[in-house]
Amino acid sequence: MKTVRSMILVSNDPESNVRGSEKIFGAFQQQLREYGLTEEVSLSMVSDLGYSYASPLVLIYPEAVVYGPIKAEDVPYIVEEHLYKGRIVEEKRAPAHELSGKVAWLSARKGTLPAQNRVVLKNVGIIDPESIDDYIANDGYQALGIALEKTPDEVISIIKNSGLQGRGGAGFPTGIKWGFVNKTYGDKKFVICNADESEPGTFKDRVVLEGDPHAILEAMSIAAYAVGANEGYIYIRGEYQLAIERVEIAIKQAEEYGLLGENIFGSDFSFKIHVHVGAGAYICGEETALIESIEGKRGEPRSRPPYPTTNGLWGKPTLVNNVETLANIPAIIRNGADWYRTLGTPSSPGTKVFTVLGNVNVTGLIEVPMGITLREVVSIYAKGMKSGSFKLAQTGGSSGSIIPASLQDTPMDFESYKRAGVSLGSGALLICNDEVCIVDLAKVLLNFFRVESCGKCTPCRIGTKRAFDILTGISQGEGTLEDLDELLSLNKEMLELSNCGLGQTAGTPLRDMLNYFRAEVEAHIRLGVCPTGVCPMSAS
Ligand SMILES: Cc1cc2nc3c(=O)[nH]c(=O)nc-3n(C[C@H](O)[C@H](O)[C@H](O)COP(=O)(O)O)c2cc1C
Ligand code: SF4
Repeated sequence: MKTVRSMILVSNDPESNVRGSEKIFGAFQQQLREYGLTEEVSLSMVSDLGYSYASPLVLIYPEAVVYGPIKAEDVPYIVEEHLYKGRIVEEKRAPAHELSGKVAWLSARKGTLPAQNRVVLKNVGIIDPESIDDYIANDGYQALGIALEKTPDEVISIIKNSGLQGRGGAGFPTGIKWGFVNKTYGDKKFVICNADESEPGTFKDRVVLEGDPHAILEAMSIAAYAVGANEGYIYIRGEYQLAIERVEIAIKQAEEYGLLGENIFGSDFSFKIHVHVGAGAYICGEETALIESIEGKRGEPRSRPPYPTTNGLWGKPTLVNNVETLANIPAIIRNGADWYRTLGTPSSPGTKVFTVLGNVNVTGLIEVPMGITLREVVSIYAKGMKSGSFKLAQTGGSSGSIIPASLQDTPMDFESYKRAGVSLGSGALLICNDEVCIVDLAKVLLNFFRVESCGKCTPCRIGTKRAFDILTGISQGEGTLEDLDELLSLNKEMLELSNCGLGQTAGTPLRDMLNYFRAEVEAHIRLGVCPTGVCPMSAS
């Protein structure tokens, strides 16, 4: 294993490429050779540094200094001053505010979000994701070694005691799910990592897979050991080309190091991981549709029960966990359940990664303790509204809730949100100002469900279309007050009669719209105006 004293990361996003990041990388290679620093300083290109107009960026650890925009001609001076003489080149530092405007979690390095408190994004943007050595040098595969010295039941107890809940949207207790699969009799079991991530606006799982793929392999191996599986799948959406590439590289490296495959760490435990590439259907993120898709069938949800924990892939007991859920596992095993409970709230321990989007000054990924409030997210991390005032936030992609200003101070954890009658969803936080029309927003969301419904069951197939048509009518000045009753009964029918979570949650925007913004909707009907001037009727 290579021990390095400094790490250089050069940004490798399309914008940086156009501005010469390859040349900068080459210049660093040459300078490190000339100064005899190749053994002490690692050099990588990473795509996760963000699209700043300060790009191409160069990030140097352990000081976490960000330089940018950098040209190849600047490199000799940076190597001489920073890496050879140990002096930071102040005049080449990237302006703080430009950076924080693009990558919220990167600005965490400067104090807003302490890096040491990150669990899921601990290594993202810090290690070279294509180097297993970098991962190992940052505690990688330690947790797998620790787990293999315990019994599967002991590993499951740690996860249960940690209080970790699934981050794929439903918040189901992870340790309990592991226990179900462990207790189901079967000579063949599977572990699946759900990396389909098709919720609009959510890209947290992509960043983990691109930035720290070994963490997911390690977590899946621990899960497989705990539940008694010897084969696993990572189901990655086809659009995530870089994530697919990096996961495949990581699997190959782990196999070469004996950390995946036969007799891991010389134990009796063997585990193989396959990558399955999805074809872009939102419904394939639903775990039973995902399983059908791996089996080579049309991606349609199964009727449940039975659940995947007993009858999953090819009818065998199967554990399905989300990427972010799994990314918590190595840290929990390394540091213990009590440590994990020091983060977040008593009922929802740990951190949550949110994709912050919309009318705010800073958009991007943040990893924050569970229990933070929306007001804090908007004012501290998103640096306030870009224009207008806060009207609502839509959580968790399309299947989340619409959170009005009156719930801005409700702690964002599974329990508190449930008590307030809303849901945390999977991690997107779309922040909308007072120029957003509630009817228009609901129409966009219902259109998404209408298009993505697999059509297997009637309440969802017909209900989403009918709701979309009614909302379109309201937005064109053709709505009636009876339409509002029909929207509420459509929500009830879809919730109670649909086969899967898509149909069951498709009516949530209708419910929230009428719960919190009824007057605005009625203005479209009674007064024939769209108060925000967005709907087509405003033009007439
Ligand atoms: C329509 C629909 C789409 C879903 N998409 C995803 C997804 O992209 N990623 C994911 O992890 N879970 C998704 N889920 C939830 C999964 O069915 C499942 O609950 C989750 O993968 C379990 O992992 P967890 O316990 O770690 O959260 C979706 C559910 C529904 C109903
Ligand atoms: S609820 Fe919708 S997406 Fe789910 S099975 Fe029925 S039609 Fe398909």
